[in-house]
Amino acid sequence: MNQLLDLNTLKTLETISSEDDLVLCALKESVVSEVYLSWMMDYEVIKFTEQRHNIPDINTIREYVVKKYKSECDLLMGIYSNKKHIGNVKLGDMDFNNLTATVSYIIGNKSYWNKGIGTKVIGMVVEIAFKKLKIEKILAGVYVDNLGSIKVLENNGFIKDAVLTQSVTFEGAFQKVLHYKKLNQLVKAKQKNGLV
Ligand SMILES: CC(C)(COP(=O)(O)OP(=O)(O)OC[C@H]1O[C@@H](n2cnc3c(N)ncnc32)[C@H](O)[C@@H]1OP(=O)(O)O)[C@@H](O)C(=O)NCCC(=O)NCCS
Repeated sequence: MNQLLDLNTLKTLETISSEDDLVLCALKESVVSEVYLSWMMDYEVIKFTEQRHNIPDINTIREYVVKKYKSECDLLMGIYSNKKHIGNVKLGDMDFNNLTATVSYIIGNKSYWNKGIGTKVIGMVVEIAFKKLKIEKILAGVYVDNLGSIKVLENNGFIKDAVLTQSVTFEGAFQKVLHYKKLNQLVKAKQKNGLV
């Protein structure tokens, strides 16, 4: 199967995945708005992400969205609740040789926090990665203080794989970064049988 063709096809779909009132679809330049910019300027939203090092502006965000849309190894999706854009989730650095990808996510509209949306969205992304893109291992990195994000991953069966110390500075001190992984059932079954 040609994964790049699949990735490009997925990007053209109006809905890549939907559950209840939530829809995920590839993010396009036309969606970039002042509201999106305001998320990137909200310290509470970005403090546990590498975005905190950037000074955002609308053109840079547009360029980023266009670059990710054209990318052959990234799937950047908007998260829509009742058709309202509330955040983004990315399956990035997809390696179709080693069948790995990294997930990252941001619910920019804080009034949607703590309603189970992050948990649901990551579940949807896992399905996309394993079933539509044939990825076998999903990785995620999370700052140790980001309790909500840790819960979102653990709710979806991600397992802590490594702890990196002194790799990021956060609010004046080093912060541990936890690396989580989720394996597709296929790999798990092979592992059980000693095949990998
Ligand atoms: C992290 C984030 C995605 C969580 O999304 P969410 O939709 O609020 O998460 P959920 O509602 O699914 O909550 C999952 C669990 O975490 C808990 N939780 C959420 N926020 C929490 C917080 N700040 N502190 C402690 N627990 C928290 C919830 O109570 C829930 O617990 P439960 O499973 O026992 O019911 C969201 O807060 C966000 O986008 N933050 C800013 C960007 C960010 O940090 N991205 C991740 C970078 S790794």
